[in-house]
Amino acid sequence: MIKIEIVKDAGAAAKVAATHYKSLLNDKANAVLGLATGSTPIPLYKELLELHSENAIDFSQSICFNLDEYCDLPNTHRESYANFMYEQFYHLANVEENNRHIPDGNAHDLEKECERYNDLLSQHGPIDLQLLGIGRNGHIGFNEPNTELKAGTHIVKLSEATVKDNSRFFEEEEEVPAFAISVGMKSILSSKKIILLAIGEEKAKIVHALMHSGITTLLPASFLHIHTNVTLICDEAAASLL
Ligand code: F6R
Repeated sequence: MIKIEIVKDAGAAAKVAATHYKSLLNDKANAVLGLATGSTPIPLYKELLELHSENAIDFSQSICFNLDEYCDLPNTHRESYANFMYEQFYHLANVEENNRHIPDGNAHDLEKECERYNDLLSQHGPIDLQLLGIGRNGHIGFNEPNTELKAGTHIVKLSEATVKDNSRFFEEEEEVPAFAISVGMKSILSSKKIILLAIGEEKAKIVHALMHSGITTLLPASFLHIHTNVTLICDEAAASLL
């Protein structure tokens, strides 16, 4: 079942989501956090950093795992998720460096890297609070719509739709990496609690589809209906077709 909370705008969504982090980390300082990138969580990271600067939240014992990373994009590239996390969150958050986990999309042996990341997740997991955005095609992490989905961390060829959507972050569509490493559905679905953020009218169609869908691999986010603790926080624009 997916609980839904509709708020006015992105700022309000960030504030609501941040309260979940605050209460989790107050209860469990060494919580395992599943983190996401993309445009959607940026206001949330801002809000969390604000709380951190007021000493209202402490990440010093938290263990963070990102969902995904592009392959063959240097970590120093502005759009690598390693760089995104540093710029949006880690450079000001007091997460210990050895507790900041992101798949290495430049690993020499990508299959081995998937195994390594998957083992690390199993070692530290389950994730206490998994943050998700949703692609306009219904992907979560980079689990793209397909006839089958993967349970574990895997290499994925990004769909045409995702390449197109993410080309807004690059100068040209050709620059968008063709492949990524993504955690699989198992680590997402075994998280104790999941917050799915959907912001803006460009997410309205997929939010509508998600809330009216059965469970199908063609809409990977629909598997969230199986989970017992998922909250979809969306703004009025993303909820406008519900
Ligand atoms: C990012 C991720 C993706 C994004 C999704 C939405 O780590 O896993 O699933 O959450 O593509 O991206 P935005 O927020 O840019 O619309």
